[in-house]
Parts: sequence; structure tokens; C-alpha cells
Amino acid sequence: MADHSAEIAAAKEHFGKVLEQQLARLDRMLAGEQPTDYASLKPIVIGVIGGDGIGPSITAEARHVLESILAPEVKSGKVRFKTIEGLTIENRVAKMQPIPDDVLAEIKTCHVTLKGPTHTPEQGDGYPNIESANVAMRKALDLWANVRPVRVPSEGIDWTFFRENTEDLYAVGSQGVNVNSDLAVDFRVITSPGSRRLIRAAFEHAKKTGKTRVSIVTKANVVKTTDGKFLNVAAEVAKDYPGIGWDAWYIDIMTAKLIDTKRRNEFQVLALPNLYGDILTDEAAEIQGGVGTAGASNLGSKYAMFEAIHGDAPRMVKEGRAQYADPSSVIKAGGMLMEHIGFTQQAARLNKALDLCTQYEKKLVMTGRNTGATTKDFGAYILDTVNDPKLDSKWGAAVKSATKK
Ligand code: IPM
Ligand code: MG
Repeated sequence: MADHSAEIAAAKEHFGKVLEQQLARLDRMLAGEQPTDYASLKPIVIGVIGGDGIGPSITAEARHVLESILAPEVKSGKVRFKTIEGLTIENRVAKMQPIPDDVLAEIKTCHVTLKGPTHTPEQGDGYPNIESANVAMRKALDLWANVRPVRVPSEGIDWTFFRENTEDLYAVGSQGVNVNSDLAVDFRVITSPGSRRLIRAAFEHAKKTGKTRVSIVTKANVVKTTDGKFLNVAAEVAKDYPGIGWDAWYIDIMTAKLIDTKRRNEFQVLALPNLYGDILTDEAAEIQGGVGTAGASNLGSKYAMFEAIHGDAPRMVKEGRAQYADPSSVIKAGGMLMEHIGFTQQAARLNKALDLCTQYEKKLVMTGRNTGATTKDFGAYILDTVNDPKLDSKWGAAVKSATKK
């Protein structure tokens, strides 16, 4: 048998460093962070980051919609918008950092940010394989909950996914180890406090919104240690919420159940580790009308960031179709941002307008090409719908008639 002792020693040393970082992160988590109280802030600073590819144009539409809805608050000085430059793939490659230091410092001057998709380098795309800016931002600001709602009112679908956002395979996803040229090992990290805060947030959300059940999704029958921990923590947290039921699912069968039209509207709030959440929420978004219609909040105790759930669509840009990108996802994220900082009624209006424009009325349709509407026209359509005095009754009628079918 070959002598592997040198390879093992090198891998052990690397693993030691990973553990040091993760234990330091655990200590920071245990120390806790004070939650931001938006009601007492003036101004609440909203940073806007354009991103790459289709990002700048769809984000510009979202900013326009938000600035228009929040015009009274901007005027009174309660809210201020701020442009954050430099979170582009070119600048990130030039600095060889997933988020250049000066850009991160700027982001930290904002209480919340609205972010367009940023390009995630992958092997073979010509860019150095630096870490995804999304993943880096979630870690740098400790944005531990990725909350992704999916709604199809006429089908009774009203799901809220609580995807853990800083752990799992993502925690050290760019620091795996090639033990030798044939053996590659990545590290999967799950902590008790990391799972607890996420699962607790899911139960709190259920309590606040009158939901009766939280579904925990893992693969704990196979991935026994880390998913096992997540599931055990869920059982503990659930004891504090006697009014709310909970159940445990495996990710494979849950993936199947989301396309089971007889059962799927029974799910309400779902809590799950990072990678399962990444995959399952793309599937869920497709059911709502495509990833272009879904938004996400990335919530930490101190900071929060809101974004589309999809990427920067370099193919659309290359094929000259960028002006037909759907801005609904980032506009939806903008609604989540408003809700998070306390403008609940404004957010509810925007959600109804999005339902009408993307699912029911559909006066304009996005196809991603010149057979459909442009980003600008669709943004204007959504804003006109928000401003329509008959919005509530139109929405009610549309949902009712779609439900009958
Ligand atoms: C998402 C995206 C990101 C993720 C990518 C761009 C790194 O797919 O926000 O779901 O995997 O989290
Ligand atoms: Mg994803």
C-alpha cells in the first residue's frame, strides 16, 4: 500500500484551520448581537447595489418602485436611499476579493440593502474562481436566515421557506481540500446556535402570521451527525411553541410533495439547512411562475439584505436580451424590505400588484426576449398597478375567479 502519511498530515493541518475559524464563528454567535430597532431610526438608510449582468437594470426598476411608494418617508427624512458602487465582477476580480474591503465598509453604513444579482464565478468561465459575493455577504454581515415566500393564492399555496444561510456546505464551500489528485473532501458544518436561531425564527413567523405548522426538512436518516443535530434542535425549539404543530420530512420526498397538487397547499412554514433550501426554493419559485418572480430576505440580527433568488443571467446579456429581464424578483425583494423595516401596508399593496401583474391580470407578459415586455415597461406596469385606486377589489376578483377554475 502506498504511503499517504504526508497527504494526511497536510489535510489534517487544513482541517485544523477550518475548525479554528468555525469555532471562532461559534463563539461570536454565542456572544449574540443586538437586533436593530427600525422604528427608532431616522433615517433608515437603504443601500442599493446594482450587481452584474441583468442586475443593474432590474434593480433600477425596483429602486424606482420603492422610491415612489416611500416618497412621503423620503421627504420626511425617515428613509434615505444610498447607491453602493463597486460590487461588480470586474472590481471583485481586480481586488481578488469576493467583496472588496471598501465596498463592505460602505455596505455596513446602510441598515438594509437591496441587491441585484452578482456574478458567481465558476470553473471555466474565464474569471478566477473567487467566492460568490452573495455567500460572502451573508457571512460577512451574519445574515443567518434566508426567508423566501412563495404564493399562488388561487391554489391556496402560501409557503414561507426559512433557509439557513451561513452554515452547511456553504460555510467553508471554497475551502475544501484535495487530499491528493484523486481524493477531494468538502466540509459540512451545522451548529446548535445556528440551527436554533433559524428554526426559532420560523416558529416565530408561524406564530405572528397565524400559521399552525412548521415542517423541518433534512436528510437525517443518511447525514446523521449534521442533519441529525438540525432535527434535534428543531424538536427542542418546538417545545416552546405548544400552539404550533411541527413535522419532519426528508428532502427527497419533500421535493416530490411540492409538485403533488393534492397535498402541497398543506405546507405552511418550512425550515431547512442551506443547500436543501437553495434547491427546494428554486423548485418552489418555478411553481409560482419562475425564479424571476421570487424574492428573498437575508436577515441577520443587525443587518438585512434583500435580493432576487436567481443569478445575473450572463446568457441573456450575451444574447442581447438584457432589456427583457423580469424585474419582478427584485421588486418583490423590495416589498420584503419595506415589510422588514416596518412599512407593512405598503408592502401588502405591492404584493397584490405583483400577484395581479405576474399571475392574473397579465396585461404585459415577460418572456425574457422580444416576444414579451421590456424590464422598464414591466416595472412601470407594476407601479401603475400599485397606484390603481381599485387595486384591492381587482385583486380580490382575480383570485376568486382563478380559484373557481
Ligand atoms: C441563491 C443563489 C446563490 C446560492 C448562489 C448565487 C451562490 O443560488 O441565492 O439561491 O447558492 O445561495
Ligand atoms: Mg439558489
